[in-house]
Amino acid sequence: MRRLVLATRNKGKVTELKELLADLAFEIVDLSYYSDLPEIIEDGGTFVDNAIIKAKAVAEYTGELSLADDSGLEVDLLNGEPGVYSARYGNPEWNDRERYQYLLKKLADYKDTRKTARFRCVMALYEPQSKQVEIAEGAVEGEIVEPRGNHGFGYDPVFYIPELGKTMAELSEEEKNRISHRSRAIANLKPKLAKV
Ligand code: IMP
Repeated sequence: MRRLVLATRNKGKVTELKELLADLAFEIVDLSYYSDLPEIIEDGGTFVDNAIIKAKAVAEYTGELSLADDSGLEVDLLNGEPGVYSARYGNPEWNDRERYQYLLKKLADYKDTRKTARFRCVMALYEPQSKQVEIAEGAVEGEIVEPRGNHGFGYDPVFYIPELGKTMAELSEEEKNRISHRSRAIANLKPKLAKV
């Protein structure tokens, strides 16, 4: 069975991705399998750039097909911020709560305006022999609101999904995984993955 290396050490992501890819004939391993892999500097200016940087570095190091993702939040009133800076927005030392409070503060002047936003995820697949790259994207549209709910992570409490009438942090893990930007990106990637 062909090996597919997930370019992440994040246990939550590994579990989610393994579930989403379970119907494909790959032996799926993550970076805990390659503990000596050097740190990868994600210095790309877009989600696509960063996902390719990660997938390529891991594929070249391991000699195996690699899948990497890059994701984050884009707020329209802030011209797409925090975008690729989502994980370290404001201050790299902050926790999730401090970070979304900072985001809310930045939006405080827009009291009666809908603060449309989206979670976006880009998946990059890199084949080291042919150097072939495949890209797929997924997004969830929503609005930034005052925090509600205590599931999930990151900006979930302040991301409201109008069709569901709930913030992302009010969804169970199962509900979130069904509609998440990551699961949508994987669904879009699957036909390409089946061809590699
Ligand atoms: P990563 O590239 O998937 O590690 O995500 C980068 C950052 O985007 C995270 O540290 C979070 O701040 C934010 N983010 C990505 N996906 C989610 C999500 O599903 N919920 C909340 N925040 C997210």
